[in-house]
Amino acid sequence: MVPGAAGESCASQHSTMGARLWMILALMDAAASSLHPQQLSRCRVNDTAVYCNGMNLEAVPDELPPDVRKLDLSQNLLQNLTHGLLAAFAAVSHLNLRANKIQFIQPHLFKDMTNLQELDLSKNDLEAFALQKSDVGPLTAVRRLDLSSNGLYTGMSDYFLREAPALTSLSLASNSITKINKDTFAGSSALRSIDLQNNVILEIEEDAFDALQDLSDLNLSTNSITCIADFNLHRLRSLNLSKNSLELFEAEVETDVEYQLRYLDLRENKIHYFPVLPCRNRLIFLDLSRNRLMSVNTNGTAEEEAAGHQNLSELLYLDLSHNQIHALPAAFFQCMQKLETLNVSSNCLRDFGVSGDVPMHSLRTLDLSFNKLRNVSFGEDTLRALESLYLQGNYLSRLDPDIFRRLPQIRELHLQRNDLSVCAHEGGDEPPGCVSLSSIRTLNYLYYSKSSPASVPAHAFRGSPLLLLDLSGNPSLQIDALAFSGLETSLTRLSLKENDLRSLDADLYFLTYLDLSFNKLTAVPLWNKESSIEVLNLQGNSLVTLEEDTVSTLGQRLKTLYLSSNPFNCCSNSWLPALVQEFKVDIADIDAVTCAYERDSELGQIDIRGASQEPCQTLNNSRLAVIVIVATLLGLIVVVMLLLKLCHSKRCRLNDSFKA
Ligand SMILES: *[C@@H]1O[C@H](CO)[C@@H](O)[C@H](O)[C@H]1NC(C)=O
Ligand SMILES: *[C@@H]1O[C@H](CO)[C@@H](O)[C@H](O)[C@H]1NC(C)=O
Ligand SMILES: *[C@@H]1O[C@H](CO)[C@@H](O)[C@H](O)[C@H]1NC(C)=O
Ligand SMILES: *[C@@H]1O[C@H](CO)[C@@H](O)[C@H](O)[C@H]1NC(C)=O
Ligand SMILES: *[C@@H]1O[C@H](CO)[C@@H](O)[C@H](O)[C@H]1NC(C)=O
Ligand SMILES: *[C@@H]1O[C@H](CO)[C@@H](O)[C@H](O)[C@H]1NC(C)=O
Ligand SMILES: *[C@@H]1O[C@H](CO)[C@@H](O)[C@H](O)[C@H]1NC(C)=O
Ligand SMILES: *[C@@H]1O[C@H](CO)[C@@H](O)[C@H](O)[C@H]1NC(C)=O
Repeated sequence: MVPGAAGESCASQHSTMGARLWMILALMDAAASSLHPQQLSRCRVNDTAVYCNGMNLEAVPDELPPDVRKLDLSQNLLQNLTHGLLAAFAAVSHLNLRANKIQFIQPHLFKDMTNLQELDLSKNDLEAFALQKSDVGPLTAVRRLDLSSNGLYTGMSDYFLREAPALTSLSLASNSITKINKDTFAGSSALRSIDLQNNVILEIEEDAFDALQDLSDLNLSTNSITCIADFNLHRLRSLNLSKNSLELFEAEVETDVEYQLRYLDLRENKIHYFPVLPCRNRLIFLDLSRNRLMSVNTNGTAEEEAAGHQNLSELLYLDLSHNQIHALPAAFFQCMQKLETLNVSSNCLRDFGVSGDVPMHSLRTLDLSFNKLRNVSFGEDTLRALESLYLQGNYLSRLDPDIFRRLPQIRELHLQRNDLSVCAHEGGDEPPGCVSLSSIRTLNYLYYSKSSPASVPAHAFRGSPLLLLDLSGNPSLQIDALAFSGLETSLTRLSLKENDLRSLDADLYFLTYLDLSFNKLTAVPLWNKESSIEVLNLQGNSLVTLEEDTVSTLGQRLKTLYLSSNPFNCCSNSWLPALVQEFKVDIADIDAVTCAYERDSELGQIDIRGASQEPCQTLNNSRLAVIVIVATLLGLIVVVMLLLKLCHSKRCRLNDSFKA
């Protein structure tokens, strides 16, 4: 075999030759390799890249092209890396040895591979190699090195990093490192990005990262760090400390240096106080979710002395969800004028307000869901840019009726799981504290499930260009016949699931999606104009049959219908073939749609598709039998009566004759 030829033929068969030819080639290959076990050459070759991954190789195929630049040997069974093994590939620039069983590397093996730029040794047994305490390098040109998942522990990275002057990206993730020593990175001072996630780091020696002038990304997520005091890595742009045991994060205070930090991820720690951040920072992302914050103070003193004094003038994203924060004083936001996303979901807030003193003109997303809010208030012109507001899962029962009209960009409103009633369009006899949902000129999505409004009055949403409206889970909801008027040109999706509806008067011909599941409907509501509904959910209602005119009105546009859990009658199911065959409607849950029949005075349920004539015939037969019996009886009675009459008149005649 010519070096590379087999590989090339394999590559070309992928594109041009048929499966049969591939089989023949594979057989030839198998024959060849059984003759020369070393010549495993089913690798794919593409220009100067060779892919020998996932082939159970125990040795490197030795007839590969000599000018190979990129060699992928991942997912094989290589154990020992020796000069002999790699000698032929001095020119390789990318070497992937991920997921082998490498436990031995000949000392200084990579010294002569002066082109080597990327080296992936992840998922091997390098711990065994490191125990021999010899260096693999120098790694003169290597820029990216992946040593993740090797069982390495503290100090073992030294044998790889001692002379790695070109290294910019290093992964030591998923090892067993407990401590970062002062000189760990001394031989790799060009590092820009270090991934140390998923180790058991407890300690980082002072100055461990100081020599790294270009370090910008540091991932320490999923370790056991308990405290960061005097944080002073000015040049870092991204620091990930999520999933540690941090109780404290404090930057150096007495300094004028501007920090480059943009992303700080402190999620899932045990932090009690708001972190003390560098005075001059460019932070845009701060995640403090799932910690133990009870306030936004930096030191647990009175609430008024809030962390507001910290300058977070570039911050765009702040996540405080899943803490125990009781209050967010306005001063806290004083120096966050660019904030776009604020997430305070799942805390203990009792009220929340934005006043004209500290407006939040950049805020687009505000999540206050699952708190204990009884009141929210937004001053006029304070939330100019707000598009999405999440208020679900609170105790809101009264709001300023106009509150949402003060949000000139609001598109999405989540009000579910509160206790809020809906105001009528024209005012009048309003429930106190109801919310006005009409004339919110930008509102497209409104979620109002499980918020127990008693009624939806006429024109309740007029002037709000809703696309989606969810009113599900509001039992005994009274829906006015004109409740949805004004939404004809915008609304496409409506959910009225689980509302105990017995009937529905509102005209909904304009929707494309309607969920009426789990109500008490006995008939499908009929609409004035031709329906545009494409998806209709009627599960869990009280439908016995579907009327012919319902079928022909709905059928025109309907594509998908849900019908299970209804008490359909098997003997009046002629609507089914009409829908399915004539109108090509897909009954999505047809496997679960059953109907009821009565046979020998016993009730049964069967798959509605199996309900042809048989059970009904039995029903008809028995009815027929009754009719026959009744008719026969009647006939008998008539005959008997006739006979009686006949004999009576004879007797009379006899009597007459006696008299005569
Ligand atoms: C082969 O190499 C070319 C250029 O180097 C690349 O565009 C192409 O995606 C490669 N094909 C495969 C299958 O790797
Ligand atoms: C790798 O080297 C070890 C000893 O260093 C030896 O026991 C083992 O057989 C070698 N494995 C292979 C596949 O050569
Ligand atoms: C961890 O950090 C490294 C380098 O900073 C980065 O490349 C990697 O995407 C990070 N991992 C996750 C899961 O964020
Ligand atoms: C931090 O690392 C975790 C993985 O442990 C990852 O899910 C998260 O996205 C990272 N954070 C950032 C800001 O990249
Ligand atoms: C906040 O920090 C930014 C950048 O670090 C700076 O330009 C701005 O003047 C600071 N604002 C205050 C009020 O200190
Ligand atoms: C708490 O922090 C505030 C500013 O954040 C500061 O004014 C006050 O002196 C601090 N109190 C203590 C006891 O450290
Ligand atoms: C806010 O955080 C919660 C919990 O971490 C999350 O489920 C929710 O999606 C976030 N909200 C937004 C608007 O991203
Ligand atoms: C809600 O809070 C605002 C501002 O604090 C207040 O003016 C209003 O009366 C409160 N509303 C209710 C119903 O408590």
